[in-house]
Amino acid sequence: MELHDTKQTMVQLMVTIFLFILATGSSWAQSTDDVSWAKRVDTGSQVVTTMQFYFHDTLSGRNPSAVKVAQPQSSTNSLGGFGSLLMVDDPLTEGPNKNSKLIGHARGMYGQAAQNDLGLIMVLNYGFTDGVYKDSSFSLLSLNPAMQTVREMAIVGGTGLFRLARGYALARTYWIDPSTGDAIVGYNVTITTYI
Ligand SMILES: *[C@@H]1O[C@H](CO)[C@@H](O)[C@H](O)[C@H]1NC(C)=O
Repeated sequence: MELHDTKQTMVQLMVTIFLFILATGSSWAQSTDDVSWAKRVDTGSQVVTTMQFYFHDTLSGRNPSAVKVAQPQSSTNSLGGFGSLLMVDDPLTEGPNKNSKLIGHARGMYGQAAQNDLGLIMVLNYGFTDGVYKDSSFSLLSLNPAMQTVREMAIVGGTGLFRLARGYALARTYWIDPSTGDAIVGYNVTITTYI
C-alpha cells in the first residue's frame, strides 16, 4: 500500500516536470521566433509573416547607398529620366531613425521604367541579419509607382524562412529630400510560406 502511494506520487511528480518542460519549452520557442519588427503565425496549412521596417535610400553625399550605373545618352542627369538605372545596397532598420537597429539590407537595382511619370522597376533582394530571420531573404520584383502615397509591390520568392514565399509589400514614404532624392520609406510586408 505504501509502495503504491510512493509510485503514484512519483508519477505525479514526473507528469508535473514534463508539463513544466513543455510549457517553458514552448515559451522559449516563441520568444526566439519573436523580433520586434516581424511576426510569424502558423495557421496550420501555411505560415503568415508580417513585417514592418524602414528602407534608407541615400543618393547624396560621399557614401551613397544608391548609385546611378546607367542612363540613356539622351537623358539629363536627373534621377527621373526614363532609362536610368541605379544599383542599391540600402540598409533596413527597425525604426525610421537611421541609427535604429539594423535588421538587413535591400540589394539590387531600380530603374526608371515609365516614360511619362515616375515608375520605378524594383528588382531587389531583401536580406535579413536579425533574429530567426538571419540569412533569410525575399525577392521583390515589381513596378513602384513612386508618386503614389502607398505603393503595393509583389514579392515573388525567397530563401531560408521565406522559401516559396508569396506576398506583397506596402511602401509609404516616411521622409524625402526632394533636392537629392534621399528617402526613408516605411514597409509593411505580408508573406505566406509553408515553413
Ligand atoms: C503599416 O502598418 C502600420 C501599423 O499597422 C500603419 O500605421 C501604417 O499606416 C502601415 N503603412 C502602410 C504603408 O500600410
